[in-house]
Amino acid sequence: MEPSGAQTNQPAAVIVLAAGAGTRMKSTKPKVLHEVLGLTLLDHVLNATSPLNAEKTLVIVGHGRDQVQEHLANTHPTLLTAVQDQQNGTGHAVKIALDALGDLSGPVLVLAGDTPLLTTSDLQLALSNLSGKAASVLTAHLADPTGYGRIVRNATDGLEQIVEHRDASDAQLLLTEVNSGVYAFDAELLRKSLAKLKTDNSQGEQYLTDVLGILRSEGFEVAAVATTEENILGVNDRRQLADAGAVLRNRINNEWMFAGVTMVDPSSVWIDRTVVLEPDVTILQNVSITGSSIVRGGSTVGPDSSLHDTVADHCATVVRTTSNGAVIGEGATVGPYTYLRPGTVLGAGAKAGGFVEMKNANLGANSKVPHLSYVGDATIGDGTNIGAATVFVNYDGQEKHHTHVGSHVRIGSDTMLVAPLVIGDGAYTAAGSVITEDVPAGSMAVGRARQRNIVDWVLRRRPGSDSAKAALADSSHKNSK
Ligand code: UD1
Ligand code: CA
Repeated sequence: MEPSGAQTNQPAAVIVLAAGAGTRMKSTKPKVLHEVLGLTLLDHVLNATSPLNAEKTLVIVGHGRDQVQEHLANTHPTLLTAVQDQQNGTGHAVKIALDALGDLSGPVLVLAGDTPLLTTSDLQLALSNLSGKAASVLTAHLADPTGYGRIVRNATDGLEQIVEHRDASDAQLLLTEVNSGVYAFDAELLRKSLAKLKTDNSQGEQYLTDVLGILRSEGFEVAAVATTEENILGVNDRRQLADAGAVLRNRINNEWMFAGVTMVDPSSVWIDRTVVLEPDVTILQNVSITGSSIVRGGSTVGPDSSLHDTVADHCATVVRTTSNGAVIGEGATVGPYTYLRPGTVLGAGAKAGGFVEMKNANLGANSKVPHLSYVGDATIGDGTNIGAATVFVNYDGQEKHHTHVGSHVRIGSDTMLVAPLVIGDGAYTAAGSVITEDVPAGSMAVGRARQRNIVDWVLRRRPGSDSAKAALADSSHKNSK
């Protein structure tokens, strides 16, 4: 989180513009709902504004408003929204916002919903520079200013006007200082200036940027202060979406490394903004940790693992694993090539080994499923071992059924446990068994055909074959007679 101090420049209102179509995304989804690092573009922007403690925050919605409003109702239920039916420009959008907010005096912060890299400090910079002035705009110097509005300064270096890329002269196009789309305004002067907006530009829209030129022409002072190039990146297409993702990824990784997380190769690590890590977590190559995941201290994740909505308790080891909605207990080990699905709970010291898939299954403390097994819809006690290639046969073709395996049980290799089933504490099953009936505590269950040897079958049916010759040469052959 950003340092506090927000109170000193606390805005009366924050207005977030998110009504545009986002045509350049070529998507059925509204632009501001596209996600990077686990949050929508809009949520990243709102996270930057929230420490400002504005009295009111209002999001202007329009295109895809149902989707945007539904999303906001889930993530920011106290937020206000207002609808801009026709996208007549950023100035028009702010007019609608001010009308919806009603009586307002003091600083108003305006920004776009498509700039996910802005920090709270950037916004505070725009607000603190407003003091004593009519408006303040956050700018940046870009290596490639293409597409952005250009900041035109006068002889004394003060802001004169903002010219949109499409409306700029050849000389203005050479300017590299651009408008970030973040502004702080005095509410009253903003309202008056918006009333004077015209649409005499290449897009026939009411540009919010023209408010600054209007204020200047009326003799008001307008501040223009620069932040870093990286922070103002606006996402207009999917290329810029990926660029924003890369920047956020590095920021998040840096934050965690400074907080005590080891990352062997941060360039191949993706941690959602929503994830919690603890000091002394080690993350190896090619790891993504997403959603509501939590990884506790002493755990090692990777290489080649994806954890989604997964909790790994202290000192867990997770290798080459895909996990979604699982809880991995303290000191538990998972992998390699393991697939944990929703409802999997591994107890302390438990093991889900190579080529094991688990779903809706509770594996008790120190219990092990070491190899090649499917465990679905099961409760397994403590200290139990599930032999290699065991299948919890949970599906009868129509419904799922539950299997309960007690503590200190030994399930033999290649056992089919046909649910519903209860295996009592301390029971054993013979390897290769198909278990269809409950097994009492302490019993050995054998559910397979008895073996029978047809003596000399190979010599009769495959005479002269290599197998037959080998058999004849084997001393044990004589003994079998
Ligand atoms: C805008 C600025 C430009 C600045 C750039 C920074 C204007 C005229 N131009 O250009 O100077 O360099 O941002 O990223 O303001 N929106 C509405 N209603 C509308 C139009 C837009 O709500 O009628 C919203 C969009 O959803 C978007 C934001 O306003 O979130 C900016 O609109 P966009 O079309 O992306 O403007 P840019 O061309 O990027
Ligand atoms: Ca934009």
